[in-house]
Order: sequence, then C-alpha cells, then structure tokens
Amino acid sequence: MYINFWYPIIRSEDLGAGKPEKSMVLGLNFVAFRDSQGKAHVLSDTCTHRGASLGGAWELGDKPRIIDDCIVCPYHGWEFGPDGECRNIPSIGYGKKVPPRAKVDAYPVQEKYGIVFAFLGDLPERDRPPLLNVEEYDTEGWRANSILVLDVDYYYERSIENGLDPAHNEFVHPTHGLKAVNRDTYHVREYDVLDHPQGWGMWFVHRFNAPGLTDPTWKSVDTSSRAPGELFAGSGTHGPNMMVTEINVGSGNRFRQYFFEQPVDQRRTRIFFLNMRNFMLGAEHDGPIHARNKVIAKQDIEILVDVYPPRTPTSNIREVLTPSDKAVVSYREWLAKFDERGWRIDWDEFSQRNGKDTGFAIPGPARRISGNWVLEPVPLLKNRSSR
Ligand code: FES
Ligand SMILES: [Fe+2]
Repeated sequence: MYINFWYPIIRSEDLGAGKPEKSMVLGLNFVAFRDSQGKAHVLSDTCTHRGASLGGAWELGDKPRIIDDCIVCPYHGWEFGPDGECRNIPSIGYGKKVPPRAKVDAYPVQEKYGIVFAFLGDLPERDRPPLLNVEEYDTEGWRANSILVLDVDYYYERSIENGLDPAHNEFVHPTHGLKAVNRDTYHVREYDVLDHPQGWGMWFVHRFNAPGLTDPTWKSVDTSSRAPGELFAGSGTHGPNMMVTEINVGSGNRFRQYFFEQPVDQRRTRIFFLNMRNFMLGAEHDGPIHARNKVIAKQDIEILVDVYPPRTPTSNIREVLTPSDKAVVSYREWLAKFDERGWRIDWDEFSQRNGKDTGFAIPGPARRISGNWVLEPVPLLKNRSSR
C-alpha cells in the first residue's frame, strides 16, 4: 500500500449535507463531510484532543456535527475547518486562541465520476500523480452506469492483478466459455505490454474467445466484425490502485470499465466500479448491466478470497509465472517504481504498533510546511525494491 496517490473515499451520493461519513483507507480512518456550499472535504478522523473519532458516535443524538463549515468532534466539541485547523475549543471558550498543535491532517479532494477522491499523501500539488482520467465521461455517445460498490475480503493488489489476467477468463467466468476450451488448440495468445498513456502504469490488448457473450443480455450487440465468439480486450493500470478494462464487442461497440480501488487494510478492499459504454445507451440497460457485472464480480471473488498468501509475494520467484502473467509482472514492476520513491507503507511496522499506544495518520501536504503534528506519520519503507 502506498501514500501519494488519489484514493476513492466515498460515493458522492452517500455523502449528504450535515452528516460526516467515516471510511477506512490504507488501514486508517478518514472523515468526509460537505461544507455549506456542498463542497466535499476529507480529514484524518482522529481528533487530536483525546482521540475521539470525528465521524463516529452517531447514537449520541441530534447535536449539529457541522457548524460554520467545521466538523465538530462529538466528544468535547472541538471544531475543525476544511483545512484541518482547529477553530474553536469550547472548554477554553469559543473564539479564544487555540494551541498550534490542535489540528488534524487535511487532504486535497476532487469529486468526479460520482466519487469523492482524496489525495492521501504529502506531495505538493505540482508533484502529485494525477487522478485516472475517464475521457468518455459526460461526452456525447457514452453512458455511465451509476457507481457499483463492491466490498471484498482480499488485498487490493490481488484484485488489480486479477483484472490484468487474460488466462483466467475461460476458467472463472462460465459466460466467457469454459465449454469452448479446445484442449488441442487452446492457449493464451501472446501480447505486448505498453505504458498506459497517462504515464503511471501499464496497458495491454489481447484477443480471446467469449462465445457466452452472445447470451440474451447482449442481444443488441452486433458481432459481425469479429470471428464468432472472439473478443478484443485491453487492460491497464494507473498508480497502484486504479485499473481500466476496455472490451470491444465488435462494430465499434465498447465498454470501458474503471476500477477505483480503496485498500481498506491487508484483507479488505472496497471497489468503486464505473462502467462506461457507447452502445445500448438507453437507461433501461443500466439495471441488466449492473446485474451482469455483479455476477461476473462474484465469480472472481470466489477465487480471490482464498488466494494465499493474501498479499502479493515480495519476489516473483515465490510463484511460477508464465507468459500470460506478463501484465501482472509489469504491474509489479510499476509498484517497484513506487517503492523506489519511498511511498510504500511499512505495513509490518505499522501493524505492530498501530492500535496500541501510538496513533498514526497519513501525512497531508501541510506537514511539508509546518511542524507540530500530534499523530505519527505512517511508517514508510525506504528504497525498497526487492520485488
Ligand atoms: S476528543 Fe475531540 S474534542 Fe475531545
Ligand atoms: Fe475475472
């Protein structure tokens, strides 16, 4: 897991006015809330007074939790602005000067594609890797399904690698045609791995058989321009936690599927899934497409919950990789580049000390400008490139 990338925090539709929402990302809690203009903000969830959860304690009653665009701690009422600075400490009197250490980390936010994203790291704006760009979004001739949220019990890197794996389709997804595997001729065709155009990951295109895609859900798909049951698809990565898959079903009809992954901890991931399409544009297709995507996701989940070890191995010789795993290897090479920048969380040290007497936070950009922070920054691995 890495700091210094954009992470999905919550679906836009799940973040209402007046109600902060808490989520766990990279093993730590964050709180998201909207100000009076409706703008979303994301802060570290731990109150630096005595550790209460800014987004917690909802059973307590009906006290306002957002006042003057500040989030109010439910324990003693300290008020923190969108920049993480404490504005009021009721016990010393409203409007009185607050100690400089009374602040929490605040993170840059972008709300796009129906998702609130936060940049979880301390890089100044000019050095930040960008958010994955969905170029078709809001363009003529394309339709977006609403964001599908999938909570899965496995590590996000295993999830991304599964999306880059052209050898699993015929075995995991009956709809893609296990019955059609011909033992005399079947093999995964060779493919080349390129850089993703946005420059923070890899991209590849391959050809495979998917006779099941002629089932009734896809009856309006024109398959005339390809061999029966044959499909072109490409997949790529952006940063450690974002993936895009393009499926060409013939005659220019395309799906582009975006997976914005939220690593919750070492065993859990929340996937924010955006499905774009340039055919079957009517709203009546949204429901069946969601339903079908859920079926396919369930098939992958069935495999991935049991993959061992849960984290991707630190060396490729710990697995027997074949040419079809080329894309997975390339993804791991990209992760090694992020390691070299010193952005990987030292999970072993973190998990040893976290939840005992030390509170951690992902350092926000303000830590590069000022000192006096209460929570320890999450430990990072220095120059680790042993993959
Ligand atoms: S713990 Fe938040 S105000 Fe005391
Ligand atoms: Fe799959």
